[in-house]
This record gives sequence, C-alpha cells and structure tokens, in this order.
Amino acid sequence: MKILVLGSGAREHAIVISLLNEEAHEVVCAPGNAGIAASGASCAELNITDPEAVHDFVAAESFDLVVIGPEAPLVAGVADPLRAAGVPVFGPDQAAAQLEGSKAFAKDVMEQAGVPTGRAVPITPANARQVLADFAGAPYVIKADGLAAGKGVLVTEDLEAAIDHVETWAPHGEVLVEEFLDGREVSLFFFADGKTVQPLTPAQDFKRIFDNDEGPNTGGMGAYSPLNWLPEGFVADVQRTVAQPTIDQLAKQGTPFVGLLYCGLIVTAKGIRVIEFNARFGDPETQVVLTRLASPLSEYLLASAEGRLAELSAPQFNSDAAVIVVLASEGYPGEVTTGREITGLAKLAQLPNVHAVHAATALGADGVWTATGGRVLGVVGRGSDVSAARSAAYSGIAKLGLAGGQFRSDIAAKA
Ligand code: AMP
Ligand code: GLY
Repeated sequence: MKILVLGSGAREHAIVISLLNEEAHEVVCAPGNAGIAASGASCAELNITDPEAVHDFVAAESFDLVVIGPEAPLVAGVADPLRAAGVPVFGPDQAAAQLEGSKAFAKDVMEQAGVPTGRAVPITPANARQVLADFAGAPYVIKADGLAAGKGVLVTEDLEAAIDHVETWAPHGEVLVEEFLDGREVSLFFFADGKTVQPLTPAQDFKRIFDNDEGPNTGGMGAYSPLNWLPEGFVADVQRTVAQPTIDQLAKQGTPFVGLLYCGLIVTAKGIRVIEFNARFGDPETQVVLTRLASPLSEYLLASAEGRLAELSAPQFNSDAAVIVVLASEGYPGEVTTGREITGLAKLAQLPNVHAVHAATALGADGVWTATGGRVLGVVGRGSDVSAARSAAYSGIAKLGLAGGQFRSDIAAKA
C-alpha cells in the first residue's frame, strides 16, 4: 500500500517503523521529522491541521490509507473531507474526536453508555469555593474542557491551588471538578471501525517530569508493557464495560468512531474507572505497544478504516517486554532550550534490543543531530521480561549525550 501518516512525533515514528517493517508499503509522513526520514519514510511539508490542504495533498498523491497521528488534526476535522472523498482514513471525524476534544462531551457519552468513571460537576470561579466544599475533600481534581496539551488537569491537595486553576481555565471554556480516583493507571488502546473494537495490549505511562512521580505533568516521560500485575481477564473486562459500550453509544448518536480509542483507566479498589478517552494512539505508550505487536499493523488500520474489523482475529502480541525512556531538553515541560547537539545515536544503533524513536530532532548536513523541542527522542529497550527491557533501554540512554538533557531514572522500576 501507499500510506500517509500525519504527525511529527515519536508516536508517528513508531507507527512508521511498524509499517516499514512489513516490507510491503511505501510510507510518506507529513510533516515527519529527521528520525522518521532516517528510517526510510519520505517526509513531506504539509499543514496537517488544515483539512483542505490535507485533502488536496491526498487527492494529488492517491494514497491507499491515511493514518492521523495527533489529536489536533482530528479535532480540526482533517478526517472528514478525506472520508467523504472515499479515502480509507484511520482516525475519527471531527464530531467523534470530541471524545478527546471535550471532557464534557466524553462525560456525557460515558453517562449515556453506562461506562464507569469519576463523578464530575461543572465549576466556575464564582462558585468554586462552595462546590469544592460540597463535593469531597482533598485531593481535588480539576479538569479544563478542550485540548490543553496535558496542562488542563490539576490534581492537588491545596484548595487555593485548585481555585487558582479554575480561575486560570474558566476563560477558555468549561471547567469540571472530578472525584479523585485512587489506584494504578493503565492505558489500553482499541482499534475501532465504528461498530467493532479489537484490543491492543495494556501499557503504563509516566506523566510527571521527575522520579517518584514528582514535578509537573508532561506529555509522557516513559512507558512499559506488559503489565504483569493486572488481574486475569482485564482486557476483556475493559472491552465489555468500556470500549464496546462507548463505540456503540457514539454510533447510536450518529457520530461513529473510526480509529484508535485510547482508554485511560484507573484500577481502583471498587473496579475499573475511566479517567480520560483519547481519540488517537498514546505517546509514549504506542512506542512500547507496537514494539510488542506481532500482527501486521497495516491490516488493522485498513480494516478499521473500511469497517471490516469483525473479519480479523484479535491482534497478537509477543511475550517479550518493552520499555521506553524519554530524553527531554533542559527546561521541559516549561520553556525549553533547543538547538543543542545530540551525541551517541550511532553507538545506540549498534546495541542489541535497543532502538530510538525521534520526536524533535534535526540532522545537519555535517551529520550532526540536534534537539529541536521539549521531548527529543525515546529509547526503546526489548527483553524477555520488563527488567531486561528496562536494562536495555537504559543502556541506550547511557550512550546519548545532550547538554541539560533530562530523563527519569525510575521508568518501570517498580514493575
Ligand atoms: P488526564 O489529562 O485526564 O489524563 O489527567 C492527567 C493525569 O491526572 C492522569 O494521568 C492522572 O494521573 C491524573 N488524574 C486525572 N483524573 C484523575 C482522577 N479523577 N483521580 C485521580 N487522578 C486523576
Ligand atoms: N500518554 C498520554 C497520552 O498520550 O495522552
């Protein structure tokens, strides 16, 4: 197939690597990045949040499949004109992407579908003190509606900080206060074709910048899979109680969901609860989940896009573990210093069971790699168990040099 992947992060690099490994496709990535190009995909300049520009590009190049990586183009409605033109697209229409784009929309779908989630109510600067006093004690969970690149959610013991967060986000849209859910977090992805879902494999990500889950939230500093501590039947439970009812509800209300349903879950003492849905592959979980995928990714992407998922058997995963450790620039997740040299990528490439996925890198004509953003790249290690995969990932990290670079030293340490 001739496949277009939209996006420029390490998630898209992981998708591109899986597709190229099938050795059957021509893969174009827009806009892509230097690491994606180095893997053998061609990268194309394109404004991927402009539906018309993407439509015209796809029409001119006649792709067999378009895979939309990040949430911004989905919420901007990039899938809609492609699907209307009969192009197989992996990624929901604008209306269904509201499942990620609006927390209020997602809460409503969950309520209609009977999906277990934390109780939530709207909160405003005017009533914040009263609502928080009535709702429940600390910790407080405050969530801004709409896409906020991970910055819209605050979990805090501090009442004044909670009220500040309401005041900060209220001008940008609705704000909710949500019941605090205590337990371990799991990300579980499903392919969805509008009617049927097929599960991938559970992963856990690490959202805080510093070791021991301290410091501010980030886009994700690491992840691992499999999660051997999950109870028997977990995936089937989530499929039956969360994913399938959500997809059914979206179909029923006339906004069928075609693409990747990301279930962000907390396993509480009272059972599984949804903390968020995303409408696309998670980053960095995808980098470990796809590393373990033994079935051809393209078949599931295309079958989802064409409404044929029920014809396929469940995707298979190898028993090996995978761990990713993310290298970030100085200052991330605040203001970052970019343009610094990255050393050691050639040495990393010689290690067994280790590979790099790039998020924000550039390759100069002189062969020098530089960092161009906050999360720079991730190092994926594979091994027969999580501990071996973890050692592999950190042996890769040890080869790299980036002045001021940050990475967590405890990814998957407790797994
Ligand atoms: P979200 O953007 O909704 O994934 O939230 C970011 C992070 O906040 C999550 O990964 C959780 O660690 C935490 N979080 C969100 N909602 C809750 C909740 N209801 N209870 C406890 N922690 C939460
Ligand atoms: N890893 C969290 C996310 O992709 O939203």
